[in-house]
Amino acid sequence: MSSGATPRAVAARVIDAVLNRGRSLKAELAQALPSLPDPRDRALVEAICFAVLRQPARYEAALSAWVPRPLPRRDSELKALLFAGFAQLDPLALPAHAAVAATVEAARALGRKHQAGLVNALLRRAQREGIPAGDAHAHWPRWLRDRIAADWPQDERAVLDASAIEPPMWLRVNLRRQTREAYVARLSEAGIVAHVEAEWPEALRLDEAVPVAALPGFADGDVSVQDLSAQQVVQALSPPHGARVLDACAAPGGKTAHLLEHDPSLRMTALDVEASRLERVRANLRRIGVVADVTLEAADAADTRTWWDGVAFDAVLLDAPCSATGIVRRQPDVLQHRRASDLDSLIATQAQLLDALWPTLAPGGVLLYATCSILRAENEAQIAAFLTRTPDAVAEPLDERLGRIAGAGRQRLPGEQGADGFYYARLRKRPL
Ligand SMILES: C[S@@+](CC[C@H](N)C(=O)[O-])C[C@H]1O[C@@H](n2cnc3c(N)ncnc32)[C@H](O)[C@@H]1O
Repeated sequence: MSSGATPRAVAARVIDAVLNRGRSLKAELAQALPSLPDPRDRALVEAICFAVLRQPARYEAALSAWVPRPLPRRDSELKALLFAGFAQLDPLALPAHAAVAATVEAARALGRKHQAGLVNALLRRAQREGIPAGDAHAHWPRWLRDRIAADWPQDERAVLDASAIEPPMWLRVNLRRQTREAYVARLSEAGIVAHVEAEWPEALRLDEAVPVAALPGFADGDVSVQDLSAQQVVQALSPPHGARVLDACAAPGGKTAHLLEHDPSLRMTALDVEASRLERVRANLRRIGVVADVTLEAADAADTRTWWDGVAFDAVLLDAPCSATGIVRRQPDVLQHRRASDLDSLIATQAQLLDALWPTLAPGGVLLYATCSILRAENEAQIAAFLTRTPDAVAEPLDERLGRIAGAGRQRLPGEQGADGFYYARLRKRPL
């Protein structure tokens, strides 16, 4: 492990980029982590960044209380380092003396030797007095909090609370390779404790996340990392054996891979509008060793003239681009980047995708609409409007374990059954 200053400096740069330069946490981590050879350093950077982005407003409030004048913009990196220091004390509860010393050292590594004394003084104060609790959800944009309150008046608090805590790590065992019990035994040999999800035969839950490289057989596709809500898509779509299936928004390919793992006889077309993201679908399929009949194409699914050969699909999965409001616990930076105006364009894109893809579905076939959103406008209202303008579409009931009834579909709120917030609607095209 490094001296400790390097990961703190790396974390500060990532946090600064996300909070002050509109960058995505995932993208910044993907760029920054490979520079750290020690996996423990990488894990520390991730832990610090997530902890800060789950409650930046609380740290901001502490800083405002302790520093007489707001730090100027040019000190945004320093502020990010201070937040990184606060997070190590609370909630990460790292040994305080070492954490403070390494963070002060990181100020020097960032070329801020002249501010090392300030970092030391503020972190010592945080250590002595504790960081005031404040409103843990103050960093939610007002418009989004209002929407959640309007959509889920009984559950608003539960949604915010569940979105603020570290989620479990869900695994999907590849049952073509081994039984779930056999895989649990392999995990146990590797010192990893897994809980069996009784009702879902492939699912395992780890209370503490581990790097994928620590999962036995991960590189060979014996297991995948996938939230329970995402795993349930395959059951909700249930394409017939050997069906011609379209996965319209496929990248990074978690559900494409799951569908084929379940039934390698499916004839799959997987699209994504972002060619670079499609590479990840390819890598995912390679990892699980899919040798099935798969066509991967970079295309705008809504522009069917560019990619569709006119032969109808038996089943269509539309895992639509959405506000990601059901997975804030996994992507806390969603709250930094999401604007109210994005929502209007997402809703328009979802409607356009539904309308464009419906003609590609064979009579008697099923389209599954899925989102990781908890907003009614993207989910039940979207589907209600689609059903009104599409006379040959009929909503079908879904397994009650997928969440509460929400219009024609089912909604799971974040944290329910330990899973991500998710919406499913199963739409059958009337047979001719
Ligand atoms: C929710 S993610 C899909 C996750 C994926 N199904 C999985 O399980 O790994 C939505 C995806 O839709 C893609 N996308 C957005 N608009 C699209 C469009 N018009 N046509 C095709 N793909 C689109 C995005 O690039 C993104 O990869």
